[in-house]
Amino acid sequence: MADDVFLSDLTRFFRNQAHFEALEHYVIPELMRIKKAAGNTAIKIWSAGCSTGEEPYSIAMLLSEILPPPWTFEIVAGDISRRSLAAAKEGFYADSRITDIGDNYLKKYSDKVEGGYKIHTDIKSKIRFDHQDLKNGLTLQNMDIVFCRNVLIYFDEEAKAALVDRLWDSMAAKSFLFIGNSETLFGMDTQFEFVKTKWAALYRKFT
Ligand SMILES: C[S@@+](CC[C@H](N)C(=O)[O-])C[C@H]1O[C@@H](n2cnc3c(N)ncnc32)[C@H](O)[C@@H]1O
Repeated sequence: MADDVFLSDLTRFFRNQAHFEALEHYVIPELMRIKKAAGNTAIKIWSAGCSTGEEPYSIAMLLSEILPPPWTFEIVAGDISRRSLAAAKEGFYADSRITDIGDNYLKKYSDKVEGGYKIHTDIKSKIRFDHQDLKNGLTLQNMDIVFCRNVLIYFDEEAKAALVDRLWDSMAAKSFLFIGNSETLFGMDTQFEFVKTKWAALYRKFT
Protein backbone atom coordinates (compact mmCIF):
# COMPACT_ATOMS: atom_id res chain seq x y z
CA MET A 1 0.00 0.00 0.00
CA ALA A 2 1.12 3.56 -0.67
CA ASP A 3 1.00 4.41 3.04
CA ASP A 4 3.75 1.88 3.66
CA VAL A 5 5.97 3.70 1.20
CA PHE A 6 5.57 7.27 2.38
CA LEU A 7 5.05 7.26 6.13
CA SER A 8 7.83 7.17 8.69
CA ASP A 9 7.50 4.20 11.02
CA LEU A 10 10.40 5.25 13.21
CA THR A 11 9.90 4.05 16.77
CA ARG A 12 11.70 2.27 19.58
CA PHE A 13 11.05 0.69 22.97
CA PHE A 14 10.50 3.23 25.77
CA ARG A 15 10.90 6.09 23.32
CA ASN A 16 11.07 9.30 25.33
CA GLN A 17 11.72 7.74 28.72
CA ALA A 18 10.32 10.87 30.44
CA HIS A 19 6.83 9.94 29.17
CA PHE A 20 7.13 6.54 30.79
CA GLU A 21 8.31 8.15 34.03
CA ALA A 22 5.25 10.44 33.93
CA LEU A 23 3.05 7.44 33.18
CA GLU A 24 4.42 5.52 36.16
CA HIS A 25 4.71 8.30 38.73
CA TYR A 26 1.88 10.69 37.81
CA VAL A 27 -0.72 9.27 35.42
CA ILE A 28 -1.22 5.81 36.91
CA PRO A 29 -1.38 7.00 40.56
CA GLU A 30 -3.86 9.73 39.52
CA LEU A 31 -6.01 7.28 37.56
CA MET A 32 -5.98 4.75 40.40
CA ARG A 33 -7.17 7.42 42.79
CA ILE A 34 -9.94 8.63 40.45
CA LYS A 35 -11.14 5.22 39.29
CA LYS A 36 -10.99 3.59 42.71
CA ALA A 37 -13.46 6.18 43.95
CA ALA A 38 -15.79 5.07 41.14
CA GLY A 39 -15.25 1.36 41.91
CA ASN A 40 -13.56 0.76 38.55
CA THR A 41 -10.22 -1.08 38.46
CA ALA A 42 -9.76 -1.44 34.69
CA ILE A 43 -7.53 0.96 32.74
CA LYS A 44 -8.04 1.46 29.01
CA ILE A 45 -5.17 2.67 26.85
CA TRP A 46 -4.93 3.54 23.16
CA SER A 47 -1.65 3.61 21.28
CA ALA A 48 -2.66 5.54 18.14
CA GLY A 49 -0.11 5.24 15.34
CA CYS A 50 1.65 2.34 17.06
CA SER A 51 3.94 1.51 14.13
CA THR A 52 5.73 -1.83 14.69
CA GLY A 53 4.52 -2.21 18.27
CA GLU A 54 7.40 -1.04 20.45
CA GLU A 55 5.21 1.67 22.03
CA PRO A 56 2.27 -0.52 23.14
CA TYR A 57 4.63 -3.31 24.25
CA SER A 58 6.59 -0.80 26.38
CA ILE A 59 3.34 0.40 27.97
CA ALA A 60 2.22 -3.20 28.59
CA MET A 61 5.53 -4.13 30.22
CA LEU A 62 5.51 -1.09 32.49
CA LEU A 63 1.88 -1.56 33.57
CA SER A 64 2.46 -5.28 34.19
CA GLU A 65 5.24 -4.24 36.56
CA ILE A 66 3.44 -1.55 38.49
CA LEU A 67 -0.28 -2.36 38.62
CA PRO A 68 -1.19 -4.40 41.71
CA PRO A 69 -4.21 -6.74 41.72
CA PRO A 70 -7.15 -6.28 41.24
CA TRP A 71 -6.13 -3.65 38.68
CA THR A 72 -6.21 -4.70 35.05
CA PHE A 73 -5.44 -2.95 31.79
CA GLU A 74 -6.12 -3.37 28.10
CA ILE A 75 -4.42 -1.65 25.20
CA VAL A 76 -5.80 -0.98 21.74
CA ALA A 77 -2.97 -0.29 19.29
CA GLY A 78 -3.68 0.91 15.77
CA ASP A 79 -1.85 1.97 12.66
CA ILE A 80 -2.67 2.63 9.03
CA SER A 81 0.27 0.56 7.82
CA ARG A 82 -0.69 -3.09 7.52
CA ARG A 83 2.96 -4.03 7.19
CA SER A 84 3.85 -2.33 10.49
CA LEU A 85 0.84 -3.92 12.18
CA ALA A 86 1.87 -7.38 10.98
CA ALA A 87 5.32 -6.85 12.51
CA ALA A 88 3.73 -5.56 15.72
CA LYS A 89 1.47 -8.61 15.99
CA GLU A 90 4.38 -10.96 15.40
CA GLY A 91 6.33 -9.34 18.22
CA PHE A 92 9.78 -10.29 16.97
CA TYR A 93 12.49 -7.63 17.28
CA ALA A 94 15.96 -7.98 15.81
CA ASP A 95 18.89 -7.42 18.16
CA SER A 96 19.62 -4.09 16.43
CA ARG A 97 16.18 -2.77 17.49
CA ILE A 98 16.67 -3.59 21.13
CA THR A 99 17.74 -0.26 22.58
CA ASP A 100 16.52 1.70 25.58
CA ILE A 101 14.90 -1.34 27.18
CA GLY A 102 16.21 -2.59 30.51
CA ASP A 103 17.65 -6.09 30.77
CA ASN A 104 15.13 -6.87 33.49
CA TYR A 105 12.20 -6.15 31.12
CA LEU A 106 13.85 -7.98 28.26
CA LYS A 107 14.39 -11.11 30.36
CA LYS A 108 10.99 -11.02 32.01
CA TYR A 109 8.80 -10.24 28.99
CA SER A 110 10.58 -11.74 25.97
CA ASP A 111 12.56 -14.82 24.90
CA LYS A 112 15.95 -14.66 23.23
CA VAL A 113 15.65 -16.29 19.83
CA GLU A 114 18.02 -16.41 16.89
CA GLY A 115 18.77 -12.87 15.74
CA GLY A 116 16.56 -11.11 18.25
CA TYR A 117 13.84 -11.31 20.85
CA LYS A 118 10.27 -12.57 20.81
CA ILE A 119 7.68 -10.90 23.06
CA HIS A 120 5.85 -13.27 25.44
CA THR A 121 2.29 -14.20 24.63
CA ASP A 122 0.95 -12.97 27.97
CA ILE A 123 2.15 -9.44 27.14
CA LYS A 124 0.79 -9.77 23.59
CA SER A 125 -2.58 -10.81 24.99
CA LYS A 126 -2.92 -7.42 26.67
CA ILE A 127 -2.91 -5.66 23.29
CA ARG A 128 -5.49 -5.65 20.51
CA PHE A 129 -3.85 -4.59 17.26
CA ASP A 130 -6.30 -2.93 14.86
CA HIS A 131 -6.00 -1.42 11.42
CA GLN A 132 -6.95 2.23 11.93
CA ASP A 133 -6.94 5.35 9.80
CA LEU A 134 -6.75 8.32 12.15
CA LYS A 135 -8.12 10.53 9.38
CA ASN A 136 -11.37 8.59 9.33
CA GLY A 137 -14.06 7.88 11.88
CA LEU A 138 -13.08 5.76 14.85
CA THR A 139 -15.37 4.18 17.38
CA LEU A 140 -13.11 3.96 20.42
CA GLN A 141 -14.57 5.31 23.64
CA ASN A 142 -13.72 5.86 27.29
CA MET A 143 -9.96 5.64 26.87
CA ASP A 144 -8.15 6.59 30.08
CA ILE A 145 -4.77 7.13 28.45
CA VAL A 146 -3.96 7.90 24.83
CA PHE A 147 -0.49 7.82 23.32
CA CYS A 148 -0.61 9.58 19.94
CA ARG A 149 3.05 10.40 19.56
CA ASN A 150 4.88 11.46 16.45
CA VAL A 151 1.82 11.15 14.26
CA LEU A 152 0.39 14.69 14.30
CA ILE A 153 3.57 15.99 12.63
CA TYR A 154 2.55 14.20 9.45
CA PHE A 155 -0.89 15.87 9.34
CA ASP A 156 -1.74 19.29 7.89
CA GLU A 157 -3.53 21.81 10.14
CA GLU A 158 -7.03 20.74 9.12
CA ALA A 159 -6.35 17.02 9.56
CA LYS A 160 -4.57 17.69 12.86
CA ALA A 161 -7.56 19.64 14.21
CA ALA A 162 -9.93 16.85 13.16
CA LEU A 163 -7.72 14.22 14.79
CA VAL A 164 -7.45 16.15 18.06
CA ASP A 165 -11.28 16.36 18.16
CA ARG A 166 -11.44 12.62 17.46
CA LEU A 167 -9.00 11.85 20.26
CA TRP A 168 -11.10 14.00 22.60
CA ASP A 169 -14.26 12.08 21.68
CA SER A 170 -12.57 8.74 22.32
CA MET A 171 -11.38 9.67 25.82
CA ALA A 172 -13.00 9.34 29.24
CA ALA A 173 -13.44 12.30 31.57
CA LYS A 174 -10.24 13.00 33.57
CA SER A 175 -8.06 11.15 31.06
CA PHE A 176 -4.51 11.71 29.81
CA LEU A 177 -2.98 12.35 26.39
CA PHE A 178 0.67 12.00 25.38
CA ILE A 179 1.83 13.53 22.10
CA GLY A 180 5.34 13.59 20.64
CA ASN A 181 8.12 15.78 21.95
CA SER A 182 8.15 17.91 18.81
CA GLU A 183 4.36 18.20 18.69
CA THR A 184 2.06 20.71 20.38
CA LEU A 185 -1.61 21.57 20.69
CA PHE A 186 -0.63 25.18 21.39
CA GLY A 187 -2.78 27.64 19.43
CA MET A 188 -5.41 25.04 18.62
CA ASP A 189 -9.08 25.36 19.42
CA THR A 190 -9.23 22.50 21.91
CA GLN A 191 -10.35 21.87 25.48
CA PHE A 192 -7.32 19.70 26.26
CA GLU A 193 -5.34 21.26 29.09
CA PHE A 194 -1.56 21.33 29.15
CA VAL A 195 -0.10 19.75 32.29
CA LYS A 196 3.55 19.97 33.19
CA THR A 197 4.58 17.20 35.54
CA LYS A 198 7.94 16.72 37.21
CA TRP A 199 8.77 14.17 34.51
CA ALA A 200 7.17 15.30 31.26
CA ALA A 201 4.48 17.50 29.81
CA LEU A 202 1.20 15.99 28.72
CA TYR A 203 -2.44 16.93 28.12
CA ARG A 204 -5.56 16.24 30.12
CA LYS A 205 -9.22 16.02 29.33
CA PHE A 206 -10.71 17.13 32.63
CA THR A 207 -14.43 17.04 31.84
C1 LIG B 1 6.84 7.92 13.48
S1 LIG B 1 5.71 6.61 13.76
C2 LIG B 1 5.39 6.82 15.50
C3 LIG B 1 5.30 5.52 16.24
C4 LIG B 1 5.09 5.65 17.75
N1 LIG B 1 3.85 6.32 18.04
C5 LIG B 1 6.26 6.36 18.39
O1 LIG B 1 6.14 7.54 18.73
O2 LIG B 1 7.33 5.75 18.57
C6 LIG B 1 4.23 7.26 13.01
C7 LIG B 1 3.19 6.19 12.73
O3 LIG B 1 1.94 6.83 12.43
C8 LIG B 1 1.30 6.05 11.46
N2 LIG B 1 0.28 6.84 10.77
C9 LIG B 1 0.47 7.90 9.92
N3 LIG B 1 -0.70 8.34 9.44
C10 LIG B 1 -1.67 7.57 10.01
C11 LIG B 1 -3.09 7.53 9.91
N4 LIG B 1 -3.76 8.37 9.12
N5 LIG B 1 -3.75 6.61 10.64
C12 LIG B 1 -3.08 5.74 11.45
N6 LIG B 1 -1.75 5.72 11.56
C13 LIG B 1 -1.04 6.62 10.85
C14 LIG B 1 2.45 5.59 10.55
O4 LIG B 1 2.09 4.46 9.77
C15 LIG B 1 3.56 5.31 11.56
O5 LIG B 1 3.57 3.96 11.95
